[in-house]
Amino acid sequence: MAQTEAASPHTMNTYGRLPIALSHGQGVYVWDTAGKRYLDALAGIAVNTLGHNHPKLVPALQDQVAKIIHSSNYYHVPNQEKLAAKLVEISGMSNVFFGSTGLEANEGAIKLARKFGHDKGIERPEIVVYEKAFHGRSIATLSATGNEKVQKGFGPLVEGFIRVPLNDVAALKAATAGNKNVVAVFFETIQGEGGINPMRVDYLQQVRALCDQNDWLLMIDEVQCGMGRTGKWFAHQWAGIKPDVMPLAKGLGSGVPIGAVVAGPKAAHIFGPGNHGTTFGGNPLAMRAGVETLRIMEEEGLLANAVKVGDHLRAALTRELAGEKGLKEIRGRGLMLGIELTVPCGELLARAAETACC
Ligand SMILES: Cc1ncc(COP(=O)(O)O)c(C=O)c1O
Repeated sequence: MAQTEAASPHTMNTYGRLPIALSHGQGVYVWDTAGKRYLDALAGIAVNTLGHNHPKLVPALQDQVAKIIHSSNYYHVPNQEKLAAKLVEISGMSNVFFGSTGLEANEGAIKLARKFGHDKGIERPEIVVYEKAFHGRSIATLSATGNEKVQKGFGPLVEGFIRVPLNDVAALKAATAGNKNVVAVFFETIQGEGGINPMRVDYLQQVRALCDQNDWLLMIDEVQCGMGRTGKWFAHQWAGIKPDVMPLAKGLGSGVPIGAVVAGPKAAHIFGPGNHGTTFGGNPLAMRAGVETLRIMEEEGLLANAVKVGDHLRAALTRELAGEKGLKEIRGRGLMLGIELTVPCGELLARAAETACC
């Protein structure tokens, strides 16, 4: 098993899917349509923060669906303000714009950086981005992404990005030296799709200082590494720093599509009426999902749990994979762990899918 299957006849052929369809879930488990149970380590690609069928989330969403799903940003959405206030509290930042996906949050960040530059008289703003980064699949975010496979076939790419290697302050300084067009530095604290590559704590602190010295925005994509996955609300908090702009999505809505751009004081008032908008972003259903997700995470101590279960998982993986041919490194933080192999991972994946059933 675990070979990928050809696409269905009517959906576009964009995914190499496993031959598994999931019918339902409960907590950390999911069942396929043949009744086989799996431990869900994928969590919908870092989305199902509360697991499946959570006893507090489900009734809250049912209640919301019965009241109002969507209204539009022409009206006030009370839970938008509530969720924004909570995000401000846990991030120490100041204002939030809501969208529906990670790429949309990152598009918002890129627009903020460009307008930040234009407002200062910089006509051709440039943003520093990173090798192996992943920021999404819209034309701007795939241009910021550091993966040629994602970009191939979609040129011309959006200009205005300068690419540097991870964790290398000298390279960042060299790439930006004398360049008055630089407006922002943009990265994931722990790269997800690029292979679980963490930025070092001292590097994060040095980049924060460089951004302050140069009046650049520090923009940290916490779409995948945020929302408690590493044991803090946001992974950069392990370094004791604050970004100026922080895109979020994925786990913020426990499965209901949601995105957010959180801005600190330096970026909070760059957009004015008419500069940015979206139909679905901030809708009552997504906002309720976000409010309940954060409330339940706090009630159930899920940050501490991510550290505890992450430590257990790392220890177990280290023990069980010891001596395994092709194992290079196990790295990451909390429940955001990656296993780097020097051999193709298909066989290991197949074994995991076979044995995950318990
Ligand atoms: C770090 C990061 N940013 C952005 C995205 C794009 O999010 P979405 O797929 O919701 O557009 C992803 C998706 O994997 C991601 O990992």
